[in-house]
Amino acid sequence: MTHFLVTGVSGLLGLNFALAVDGKKHQVTGVANTTPMLWATFKNVQAELTQPAVVEELIETHKPDVFLHCAAMANVDACEANPELAQQVNAELPGIIGAACNKHGIRLVHISTDAVFNGSTGNYTEDDIPNPLSVYASTKLAGENAVVSAYPEALVARVNFYGWSAAGNRSLAENFVNNLAAGKEMMGFTDVEFCPMNILDLSGLLVETAELDLHGIHHMVGAEAMSKYEFGRRIAEKFGFDASLIKPVSVKDSGLKAARSPRLTLSTNKIKAALGHDLPGFADGLQKFYDQYRRGYHLYIKSLT
Ligand SMILES: NC(=O)c1ccc[n+]([C@@H]2O[C@H](COP(=O)([O-])OP(=O)(O)OC[C@H]3O[C@@H](n4cnc5c(N)ncnc54)[C@H](OP(=O)(O)O)[C@@H]3O)[C@@H](O)[C@H]2O)c1
Repeated sequence: MTHFLVTGVSGLLGLNFALAVDGKKHQVTGVANTTPMLWATFKNVQAELTQPAVVEELIETHKPDVFLHCAAMANVDACEANPELAQQVNAELPGIIGAACNKHGIRLVHISTDAVFNGSTGNYTEDDIPNPLSVYASTKLAGENAVVSAYPEALVARVNFYGWSAAGNRSLAENFVNNLAAGKEMMGFTDVEFCPMNILDLSGLLVETAELDLHGIHHMVGAEAMSKYEFGRRIAEKFGFDASLIKPVSVKDSGLKAARSPRLTLSTNKIKAALGHDLPGFADGLQKFYDQYRRGYHLYIKSLT
């Protein structure tokens, strides 16, 4: 049994990871901050991670085997609006966590993002030099560097995922479902490509990698590249919604504040070689997302906070 200390447990990734992993073969202690986890079935605490000594105290109190750092300022537009806070949470905090995990000899899995690249070419490998476009992306890149320099044995996972959140609107996939189910039109960017991975598949991979002696940067994104427009259409088809409600548009005409990278497709050859198998396929992941919806998981997860 591995004991994971999971930060950001009230967020999209942390909560889904905790629900998928705790009480099966492994144990999770979750750390939320401003969102109390009123009804969660796993052990959880509240902590503002940027406060002095908090990270050390969490490690000393809970003695985890693996520190899974999901907490971040992950809203791209909020980072543009408050770059100082983004710097503190996304860039400086990971270095503090890296140093503390190194000191205590705890395995660290740090979650980063595909958005460290500007998306001009796509199919990026771990050897390609990142060139972030936004405050969010620059601060996440600085966080990666801080982790690797404080703790070279840490694993840095660059991810892109979708799933159901407690907030009900944290992932693009949820927004497609929410709008299409209500018969509302949505924009789908035809010129922004990415490799979305189901959050359950990512959670499984994170457990698998935490048990291996992997360190350094690894790309852990979906096996299939597609535009956000195509992603919306695949969701609409799976859920039986009217796909014509998704309007194909260019991101240039979207009015979004922070710059978005057009081709955020990443090579996953390194992680596949390390694991010795392929990554889960998109169709299987989408089926899991749909099955959760049919079982009411999207309502259950909202009831936990
Ligand atoms: N969402 C995506 O599609 C995506 C794509 C690529 C990479 N990522 C990365 O994946 C990770 C998880 O993202 P997410 O979408 O799950 O984020 P999220 O839903 O926005 O959740 C963020 C979490 O971080 C916690 N947090 C923020 N500041 C904190 C602080 N100062 N102290 C303690 N906790 C703090 C929040 O706690 P409270 O809410 O309790 O305050 C919340 O639990 C992030 O590293 C993000 O950069 C996300």
